[in-house]
Amino acid sequence: MEQSVRVITIDGPAASGKGTVAERIAHELGFHYLDSGALYRLATYRALKLGTPLDDAEALERVASSMAPVFEQGRILLDGEDVTLRIRTEEVSRATSRVAAVPGVRKALFDLQRRAAKAPGLVADGRDMGTVVFPEADLKIFLTASARVRAERRALQLEARGETADREALTRDLEERDRRDRERAEAPLKPAPDAKLLDTSSLGIEEVVKKLLDWWDEAR
Ligand code: CDP
Repeated sequence: MEQSVRVITIDGPAASGKGTVAERIAHELGFHYLDSGALYRLATYRALKLGTPLDDAEALERVASSMAPVFEQGRILLDGEDVTLRIRTEEVSRATSRVAAVPGVRKALFDLQRRAAKAPGLVADGRDMGTVVFPEADLKIFLTASARVRAERRALQLEARGETADREALTRDLEERDRRDRERAEAPLKPAPDAKLLDTSSLGIEEVVKKLLDWWDEAR
């Protein structure tokens, strides 16, 4: 990475608001935005579509390393198909936390993520942005929120897309996914030692964005 490229990492558990906040910060600062979760979702969607067994680590690595998604004006094309919404279903979310635990899959997606760091800067969101992919980042954030609040946020997201949401099932799914993300051997979900922690349970998007921009002003 060039020396002049500034990097802000935003990690945290499922539905902690990382994506919305990261996109907003990138917009405010004129930086690029990397949604690393989308890459894991794409690899998983592709594996499901190809009928790849989710316990076949080598086959999953091949699926991830040979994919060539196209990001175009807010839409994602994969193998000629518009998968923008298809990678966001709960079925894909659940399977993704299994596929993301495979070291070969993480290796396959590493360079793709590093290449997203372009001038003037990058805001990267995920689970291991501050710990593994961009350990040299200028500012590292770790967002949390209670499981109940996160399930409610995810429910509202699904309902906004015209889908129904079972809040109890969502809470169970989120907790199960977080457990798998935290307990995996490779790049587990955890704050970098130098990350700033923010519990967003009782904060709105605007308040979180403002807090992070204040931290960025202090960090520069
Ligand atoms: O939107 P949400 O927070 O629910 O999920 P996401 O950020 O799209 O990530 C989906 C899944 O991908 C997570 O549950 C992780 O298992 C995996 N992931 C990962 O392992 N490493 C990343 N840097 C980003 C996502």
